[in-house]
Amino acid sequence: MNAPGERRFPAGFLWGAATSPTQIEGHLDNEWTHFTAHDGGNCRVACDSYHRYAEDVDWLARLGLGAYRLGIEWSRLQPGPGAPLDRGELDRYLDQLDRLRARGITPMVVLHHFSNPNWINAAGGWNNPAAIPAYVDYVTRLVAAIGGRVTLWNTFNEPDTYACMTCLLGAYPPRHQWRFRQFRRVIRHMARAHAQAGRIIRAAGTAARPMQVGIAKNWTFFEACRRFSPWDRAAAFIAHQGFNKFVLNAFLGGTRRRVATFLGLNYYGRIRFHHFQAMVPAGGTPRTKLDDFGFVCDDMVERYPAGLGKILAYFRRRFNLPVYITEHGTASTDEPFRAADLRENLTVLHDAIAAGANVKGFFYWSLLDNFEWQFGYTKKFGLLAVDFNDPARPRTPKPLAEAYARIARANALPAV
Ligand code: BGC
Repeated sequence: MNAPGERRFPAGFLWGAATSPTQIEGHLDNEWTHFTAHDGGNCRVACDSYHRYAEDVDWLARLGLGAYRLGIEWSRLQPGPGAPLDRGELDRYLDQLDRLRARGITPMVVLHHFSNPNWINAAGGWNNPAAIPAYVDYVTRLVAAIGGRVTLWNTFNEPDTYACMTCLLGAYPPRHQWRFRQFRRVIRHMARAHAQAGRIIRAAGTAARPMQVGIAKNWTFFEACRRFSPWDRAAAFIAHQGFNKFVLNAFLGGTRRRVATFLGLNYYGRIRFHHFQAMVPAGGTPRTKLDDFGFVCDDMVERYPAGLGKILAYFRRRFNLPVYITEHGTASTDEPFRAADLRENLTVLHDAIAAGANVKGFFYWSLLDNFEWQFGYTKKFGLLAVDFNDPARPRTPKPLAEAYARIARANALPAV
């Protein structure tokens, strides 16, 4: 029965939360291990989920979430090209998956989330086509080892952000800047790896348990601050062409469209350009200036809930694939602001579904406050707060966790 004014989601809709290994696990040896973020922080312990994953799984269950999007870290499992996977580390991930299953929580496994084994990086990373067979070999071994525990797979998380930050903006290791040809090569290599790995994953499915596979595409709307400024428009155009269009075409254009069974969408909002400067907190724009422009931002980018409807409509027209919202979240210490953002985005999502969008689930970014790459621990995306000064890394639910849990349990957005 629908309560008056509530917005009910389709039966079987998955409500989940998302994390990634480098951001939460700690005790990793990859290109981020010796990276120091703007706040002086590093990922060497992070949320210590390496030791505390059972606690994280319990939290998901306590919040009534039915799904968890988690990464499995390649650098932990494979010591060299073509090497067998490390048994102990594999068992740890299998235990995590079994704990999820015991609580009725569906895992979505991410195979690449902004990090590589050191031996891949030493050989030039994804700029070197040798990364393709190496990744495909890893995925083949992992899929076989995991057996039927996982049916939902993300081959790559945000190849767009990864290539942009590693080759153009220099924010992620190896911190290269403005290497446009390298950006294109990295994307093309990842897209080939996605196609090959995607076929292998699908072939591992059965009629009773078919495999679902897709990338997670970050979609950001790039726009000009001033509609008539050629500079603002040029910056927005270039960003859109490279980050959105080129990446979508590489992964999903032509016959590649047939590899994926779904499209993952990471949606945060909008970036508007003023004289080639991105007018968002993540780009360093001061709050006062954003207020002058009238831009509503979290601690990262401009909020733009209407955009979620637009991009879902575009994806439907262009690909007609089922969609998972693989990430959406707000970085802020202002909990009412975060709650309002969630409500606005879920309202748009609900309208899009009512209009025919085939959206299967929603994963909040993130389960935990965590290591936000170049920004360290200053961006608070978590449903749960983590005390990074305490070696036990205690987790405490924030008000948004309670609100999100109510939505997930009811499978509905309550009336205001
Ligand atoms: C990434 C996450 C990141 C989040 C918030 C996404 O781009 O997949 O790793 O923490 O956005 O910035």
